[in-house]
Amino acid sequence: MTDAKKLFIKTYGCQMNVYDSERMVESLAPANMGGEGYVVTDVIEDADMVLLNTCHIREKASEKLYSDLGRLRPLKNAKPDLKIGVAGCVAQAEGDEIKRRMPLVDLVVGPQAYHRLPDMLRGLSKTTDTDFPVEDKFDLLPQRRATRGPTAFLTVQEGCDKFCAFCVVPYTRGAEVSRPADRVLTEARGLVERGVRDITLLGQNVNAYRFGFARLVRDLAAIEGLQRIRYMTSHPNDMEDDLIAAHGDCAKLMPYLHLPVQSGSDRVLKAMNRKHTAAEYLALIGRFRAARPDILVTSDFIAGFPGETDADHQATLDLIRAVGYGMAYSFKYSPRPGTPAAERLEVPGAVADARLHEIQTLITAQQRATQDAMVGREVSVLYEKAGRMPGQMVGKSDHLHAVHVDDSQGKVGELVRVKISASSSNSLAGVRISL
Ligand code: SAH
Ligand code: SF4
Ligand code: F3S
Repeated sequence: MTDAKKLFIKTYGCQMNVYDSERMVESLAPANMGGEGYVVTDVIEDADMVLLNTCHIREKASEKLYSDLGRLRPLKNAKPDLKIGVAGCVAQAEGDEIKRRMPLVDLVVGPQAYHRLPDMLRGLSKTTDTDFPVEDKFDLLPQRRATRGPTAFLTVQEGCDKFCAFCVVPYTRGAEVSRPADRVLTEARGLVERGVRDITLLGQNVNAYRFGFARLVRDLAAIEGLQRIRYMTSHPNDMEDDLIAAHGDCAKLMPYLHLPVQSGSDRVLKAMNRKHTAAEYLALIGRFRAARPDILVTSDFIAGFPGETDADHQATLDLIRAVGYGMAYSFKYSPRPGTPAAERLEVPGAVADARLHEIQTLITAQQRATQDAMVGREVSVLYEKAGRMPGQMVGKSDHLHAVHVDDSQGKVGELVRVKISASSSNSLAGVRISL
């Protein structure tokens, strides 16, 4: 063992942050920084550096940073050399303000400046960096080497030009940028060589990918050894016909569609600046289902957007009933500084809470029904790890359900056929079908 320094990293927020954290860890590894490099530790007390990769999407998410920083104070007092870094969307939104509020913070780095992190640590670069540089961080971050199991995220698009009235992402992640297809394909091949079988392409609006998203999916499908392709998050207004078609004819493209709608009321959709109606959204889902009848659809909802009436809320419940979701995230509206909706009159908190509860109850029932309907069916499962019981493997089905399989011969990374025998609250159980 070397005596490399230790890095503790905590990731909040979306999958893009998970991906970015992995890339930051690699850029700080001894292989890329020599003697100054860091290896990851899970024990915060052992750390020489703590990096918090933050999320600004809702107030609760960003306040979490400050409570976590407060808890780090005793550690920093005991270990004055400990470096504390703040990355991610709060770093971008608040910049130097973080250091003013929390002087124990040494580094603040926004999502577009991660490639400069090693130089920051070497004292060669400013210690608050929230630039949107012209250079592409992905080109400058070291090649990915490490992988964790048979699944991986791969960011292909970042940023957002949509400016929904409630959302901070266009400000924290910047304008839409797409990575050239050859770089994405090279990264994907590298992941497959390291044992990855299931890749989820990521982007704030992944289907706004500028160089043809469906083309990219088809090119990835040609990589031998790659067995599954997923993507998220897609936006209803960026949908290409060929992506819908690919769900019907590209076997590696999984039957799963995360297509957030936020509300079922046209009035609210307009006030949110979503630029589509509920009927257009339902028609789009219909086209996906025509191409791939068993596609599992998921979404995001906001309860209590400013100006939302009870009739608007009922329209959201109607839309949920009309779609029949396999899963969905729902959130109480949270006013975010600098966004247009933050200026508007809020729905009373208790009303928003009650609406959120209704949405969640309906969605939970649909989720359970979708999962229960898998019982008796044969599905593919990619083993991700051993289960808690001896001889048990755990993996994900094509529809992203967690499945427990009794299979003492099973190996991580294997894709097997399973007959589903039972459904419990959060997972399915099944029996491997020997071929
Ligand atoms: N690009 C994706 C969503 C990214 S943010 C899309 O357009 O759908 C993830 C989710 O957080 C959003 O879909 C929305 O449901 C929720 N969200 C964003 N801002 C919010 C806010 N101010 N209050 C509550 N929920 C919010
Ligand atoms: Fe936010 Fe809207 Fe962009 Fe999604 S599309 S990231 S909700 S501004
Ligand atoms: Fe949060 Fe930034 Fe993702 S605000 S949801 S971490 S893009």
